[in-house]
Amino acid sequence: MRTQVAEHHPDLHAVIEHLVFSGGKRVRPAVTLLTGKMLGADPDRLVILAAAIEMLHTATLVHDDLIDGSMLRRGIPTVNAQWSPAATVLAGDYIFARAAEMAARTNSVALMQSFAETLATIVNGEITQMFSSRGVASREDYYRRIYAKTASLFMLATKAAAMISQCDEQVVETIRKFGYEIGMAYQIVDDILDFTGDQEEVGKPVASDLLSGLVTLPAIYYMESHPDDQDMEAVLRGEYNNNGRMMRLVKAIRSSGAIKQALDEARRYVERGLEHLEHMPAGVERQALVELSSYIVDRQV
Ligand code: IPE
Ligand code: IPE
Ligand code: MG
Ligand code: MG
Repeated sequence: MRTQVAEHHPDLHAVIEHLVFSGGKRVRPAVTLLTGKMLGADPDRLVILAAAIEMLHTATLVHDDLIDGSMLRRGIPTVNAQWSPAATVLAGDYIFARAAEMAARTNSVALMQSFAETLATIVNGEITQMFSSRGVASREDYYRRIYAKTASLFMLATKAAAMISQCDEQVVETIRKFGYEIGMAYQIVDDILDFTGDQEEVGKPVASDLLSGLVTLPAIYYMESHPDDQDMEAVLRGEYNNNGRMMRLVKAIRSSGAIKQALDEARRYVERGLEHLEHMPAGVERQALVELSSYIVDRQV
C-alpha cells in the first residue's frame, strides 16, 4: 500500500498518506493473508491481493464519509472534512483505481471479475440504502443491505485468497461462506457500536445511524419490543430537531435488551462461519481465523 501512495499530486499524496497510515484495524487483509496462507497461496500474489482489498475498503470509506457527512474516521478528520465534495469524490476514485491496479497484478482475470462484481454490489447497496424510504426497516432489508455493503467484501477476501491458492472448487465455496458469515457479524457489531461505543475509542462519530434515518438491527429489535414508542416514531418521521428526544431514544435502546439480541445474532453468524472453517486444513492460520472470529464479536472498536 505504501508504494501506491508515492509520486502523485502533492495534495493527493498527502491526503492518501494520511488515510492509509492512520491505520484502521486491517481486518480484511488479515483475513485474506490468513486464508491464503492456510491454503498455500503464493506469498507475493497474496500480499498484493490483501493490499488491493484494503485499498478497495479505504476507497469505499472515503466516499461513505462524504455521503454520510462524517467528519471523523480512525480518530482523524475525514477527507471531506478537509476538501470539497468534488475533490473528495476524485480522491476516492483515485484510490479505487489503485486498488484495481493492485488486484490486476495477481494475474487472474477471474479474480479481477470478482473484484469488480464486489465493487458493483457495494455501490448498489449504498444506493439502495440511500433511496430506501426513511425509517422503513425489516430484518430482511437490513440483512440484504449489510450483505451488500460489508459481507460481500469479506466474502471476496476469503474467496479471492482461495482462488490464487489452486485449491478445488469446493474449498473456494466453503471458505467463501466463512467470509460471508463473519462479514455479516462484523457489520452487526459495527451497528451495535454505533449505539454503545465511545467516540474516542471507536475513532468515528457514534449514535449517528439513527440520526441519519438509518435503522439498524438494535433499532429493529427495539421497535419490535416497543411498537408504540413515541420517540422512535418521531425520529423515524425525521422529527429529531429536539436533540433531547434523540439522545433519550439512544439511551433507551442502549439499556434495552435489543443490544444483547443483536449481539446474539452476530454470534450466531460467527458460529455458522466456524462450522465452515472446520473443513479447512488445521494449523496456526486456521486457529488465528478462529480467534479473529471471536474478536469480531468481542471487539469494542
Ligand atoms: C468500517 O470498517 C466500515 C464497515 C464496513 C463496518 P472497519 O471497522 O473495518 O474500519 P477500519 O478499517 O478498521 O477503520
Ligand atoms: C460503511 O458502513 C460500509 C461501506 C462499505 C461503505 P457504515 O456507514 O456503517 O460504516 P461507518 O460506521 O461509517 O464506518
Ligand atoms: Mg458511514
Ligand atoms: Mg457504522
